[in-house]
Amino acid sequence: MSGLAVVTGTTRGIGAAVARQLATGGWQLVLVNRDLSRAQALADELRGSVAASVCADLADHRSIDSATREIAARFETIDLLLNNAGVQLGPRRNSLQGIEMHFEVNTLAPYQLVRGLSGPLAAAQGTVLTVGSRGMFHTRELKVDELRSPTDNRPLFGPYTQSKFAVATVMGGLARAYADRGIVFRLCCPGPTKTRGTTGEGMPWFLRPVSAIAFKPAAKAAAKLVDALDPRFGRESGLYIQDRKVRPLPPQAVDPAVQRHLLGMCRELTGV
Ligand SMILES: NC(=O)c1ccc[n+]([C@@H]2O[C@H](COP(=O)([O-])OP(=O)(O)OC[C@H]3O[C@@H](n4cnc5c(N)ncnc54)[C@H](OP(=O)(O)O)[C@@H]3O)[C@@H](O)[C@H]2O)c1
Repeated sequence: MSGLAVVTGTTRGIGAAVARQLATGGWQLVLVNRDLSRAQALADELRGSVAASVCADLADHRSIDSATREIAARFETIDLLLNNAGVQLGPRRNSLQGIEMHFEVNTLAPYQLVRGLSGPLAAAQGTVLTVGSRGMFHTRELKVDELRSPTDNRPLFGPYTQSKFAVATVMGGLARAYADRGIVFRLCCPGPTKTRGTTGEGMPWFLRPVSAIAFKPAAKAAAKLVDALDPRFGRESGLYIQDRKVRPLPPQAVDPAVQRHLLGMCRELTGV
């Protein structure tokens, strides 16, 4: 599989590694980052494979809106939207819109990107691959009504895990909503990876030594994401892939009523 891929968060970590691997595989890339000067080094490195470098702060609804308009105006077809960018933070932070930052960047931004790019994605019968986290299996329930303003703000086990559970649910809901337009949705956990997100204050202090020693390099995680695009998975939409295999999602994530409720919340908060 190759074509035009829109990839978010390529300044570092898994996003930089996956952009390199997609370029090697013959993809043309649209790099989406909040700071174009920091995105430039990779754009220069992958020069022949970069169709555009677009600015978007994924914590700002207006910024995402203008980026998706720019991309949709320039590219009639998009074969892949790779929702990679994400945050794993320490102390509680809110976005410009007053929404908790993990929910904003890890859940609402991928939703808004799909909504803004659905035209060129449908035109290409394209794929939306979203980077999820197996952490969702270690939480008892998705607390939909707390996502915007969580009461549990523990690093990793609090809003990060909830936002990844939520994006799994949102993408499942979008898979249903866009089934008749031929867009394939897929979620993939890249596995524990040594990056800024997992080595800083977004990691509980007692797990930092583990992540420093045992977590894998970003290139391994990127290879798992590229593998999630393999033709052996066919065109079934809504699959969750972990360690190169299709796995069941938690029951709440595939519950149509929960998906509808969450999609309604995303629509209301982003206005799209
Ligand atoms: N590392 C792991 O063990 C692991 C496991 C499961 C899932 N994941 C997921 O994998 C993805 C990549 O994470 P990573 O570990 O590679 O983390 P990372 O090294 O911190 O990279 C995160 C990327 O997201 C971008 N980003 C963050 N906030 C943004 C915003 N408001 N607007 C635009 N871009 C923004 C960052 O850009 P800046 O450079 O501008 O900050 C950076 O390019 C995330 O979705 C993460 O949740 C990671």
